[in-house]
Amino acid sequence: MTRIDPAALAEKLAGNSLARRIIVLEETPSTNLAAKALAAEDAPSGTLVLANRQTAGRGRRGRAWQSEAGAAVCMSLLLRPEFPAECAPRITIAAALGVCRALRTFGADAAIKWPNDVYAGGKKLSGILSELGTQGGGRPYIVCGIGINVGQRAFPGELAETATSLLLETGHTVALERVISEVLCALAPLFPACGEDAAYAALMEEYCRLSCTLGRQVKITGVDGVRCGRAEGLDTLGRLLLRTADGALLTIQAGDVSSLRNAENSEEREKE
Ligand code: BTN
Repeated sequence: MTRIDPAALAEKLAGNSLARRIIVLEETPSTNLAAKALAAEDAPSGTLVLANRQTAGRGRRGRAWQSEAGAAVCMSLLLRPEFPAECAPRITIAAALGVCRALRTFGADAAIKWPNDVYAGGKKLSGILSELGTQGGGRPYIVCGIGINVGQRAFPGELAETATSLLLETGHTVALERVISEVLCALAPLFPACGEDAAYAALMEEYCRLSCTLGRQVKITGVDGVRCGRAEGLDTLGRLLLRTADGALLTIQAGDVSSLRNAENSEEREKE
């Protein structure tokens, strides 16, 4: 099994404003949980937690996240942003853009599936789980957890249909330290941009250009049942604007969605 080389990683990340303290765990249930525990102990913003093996990885909406030890990046970044709490959802949008940019530098044809999955060739390459918390005394923090499939040659069970890796997409083996440092380099200017309206607007423009959701017919299943329509754009908080067949424009919150499917093909639309 390939392990993260902490010395090589520290060298690559020297001077990165996000990774101020790097912790590499051999095994942990979830790097997000580990980062949250550190947040409760007053760990500083820029604490980066990585694991060679994650045994109970957490995904969005209470789902599990599986990752093959040594073949995947499991990382969580503790942030204590200075900007107002209502800007916090922007972090997730910025994280998706940073991961997408980084994975494209390795040659993957990566695109962002709203809100924050990175896809290539119609399959999932990376998932992001951002969790907001407050420490005793009400001090807020965000843990941004990122899982990236890097060196898997195949996926077990149902994942075979839905997941892909950098290796499968590009044919190249990439060291985990290189992927981690490329992601953190991409994220370093994006997170501060979340607190400035003009910089965030530019970030959103690039997010939209790299989106494989916007401009498409989609089928959304969530708290309000099934909704179909054209994904027309995003509002300033990153909520999806969905134009339905009757012309209404619905605003969809990421947290209310359990699945979003491309419904471009007419057969699928007829069924709806
Ligand atoms: C999703 O697509 O549902 C989000 C998956 C997020 C997985 C990452 S792996 C590192 C971090 N630790 C976790 O337990 N989850 C995130």
